[in-house]
Amino acid sequence: MPQYILALDQGTTSSRAILFDHGGHIRGCAQQEFRQIFPQPGWVEHDANEIWETQLAVARQVLRENQLSPAAIAAIGISNQRETTVLWDRVTGKPVANAIVWQDRRTAAACDALRQRGLADLVQAKTGLELDAYFSATKIQWLLAHVAGARERAERGELAFGTIDSWLAFKLTGAHVTDTSNASRTMLFNLHSLQWDDELLELLDIPRAILPTVVPANARIGHCHPDCFGAPVLLAGLAGDQQAATFGQACHHPGMAKNTYGTGCFMLMNTGHTAIRSQNRLLSTIGWTLEGRSGADTTYMLEGSVFMAGATIQWLRDCLQIIQHASEVEALAGSVADTGGVMLVPAFAGLGAPHWDPYARGTLVGMTRGTGRAHIARAALESIAYQTADVLQAMQADSALPLSELRVNGGAASNNLLMQFQADILGVQVVRPAVTETSALGAAYLAGLAVGFWSSPEELATHWSMERRFEPAMAAAESQLRLANWRRAVERSKAWQF
Ligand code: G3P
Repeated sequence: MPQYILALDQGTTSSRAILFDHGGHIRGCAQQEFRQIFPQPGWVEHDANEIWETQLAVARQVLRENQLSPAAIAAIGISNQRETTVLWDRVTGKPVANAIVWQDRRTAAACDALRQRGLADLVQAKTGLELDAYFSATKIQWLLAHVAGARERAERGELAFGTIDSWLAFKLTGAHVTDTSNASRTMLFNLHSLQWDDELLELLDIPRAILPTVVPANARIGHCHPDCFGAPVLLAGLAGDQQAATFGQACHHPGMAKNTYGTGCFMLMNTGHTAIRSQNRLLSTIGWTLEGRSGADTTYMLEGSVFMAGATIQWLRDCLQIIQHASEVEALAGSVADTGGVMLVPAFAGLGAPHWDPYARGTLVGMTRGTGRAHIARAALESIAYQTADVLQAMQADSALPLSELRVNGGAASNNLLMQFQADILGVQVVRPAVTETSALGAAYLAGLAVGFWSSPEELATHWSMERRFEPAMAAAESQLRLANWRRAVERSKAWQF
């Protein structure tokens, strides 16, 4: 009997493979970082082959280190960085260029031009998204326009487009598929009909022939080529990492929300079977489509996407070099009582929700002669909490669903100073689960549901348990004052371009 589910968690900075047992406990983990390619300011690329090679290597490593044969794996599930765009040759399997990463801003002007054509409302109504360079559509346009011969080959049906889930599924099984959660991040997928949208494809001049088939999150996609693991293993779950994390956090009911503190910060709130049209510049997106006995059922989310969270701590480490390891930031920030009036707006890749300004840039304000690295480190940590507060405010205005607690996960969720400050600034309880690898766990759950390893989302919800609760302890007047100062700082970071 297979005893495990293998989750492939393909993130922005590393590829990981995590093994889960029937209780949803982690039984093995392997991780490899890969190159971040910055060809020009504002551009971010990945080598799709490197993503595949590191992902396969860690999957093999976790089996080897746990002395498991492929027969011990009931199924594989994928959780992936979303929006990142790969275009490859269907026959050779070779990418035509580097993948354009979700953080890449090179198509900001193309989005401006589409906005001037009056398309922003149509895009929001159909896809639930802001018309922004974050999403895949203008990245595809860029590749078709700048890679020699790509448009002609795409129109002849020779090229395939995919986000990272599609790319890995193709490399593993040969299938060209994506799930609804990933499709809903392309700006080409109709949130209501659950189909690729012909009108948008025409307006954006993107050939339908390059698009993958859209499947439910718990679809049985196919067996991996035997040369991947020495014997076929079934690939049976796909979800964008933020949606997978929401599933892994057991946010199965409307009004439940999670916030992931990864490279960026992504807050998702379950809105049930209705796609809410945001009035406050949040995204309406697909959480998951689950195939059940009575057909497929789609759950929608409101999402606030913040581009820089953990990446801000990496910036302290790699660019400012005021810490050597990310784990040092908590002690350094905790060595001062406050930031001494310093605020950092980490708009290094523009600002996402709820501001959507691709031309905003990182801004450090309020420094005095006494400002030191500890103040800046603390300001960096606090910026993560402030950005989350902006998103939560928009979410509560949009949904009218009161938030009783915020479930957290992701690397920086282990930072107690940040989590306490987050509860203080939000005035909401912040709850950290026992398993914080919830993106991988969500993908494992989806794959496990597909093969009957688990029976239902209700069964999965019983696995969830709390590790620590952070109670808000700051006076409301104090948090309001801090938030007002934060918003002044944000205004200064906007529309900064030269
Ligand atoms: O939308 C981008 C998001 O999916 C990236 O997630 O985990 O790589 O920070 P992560």
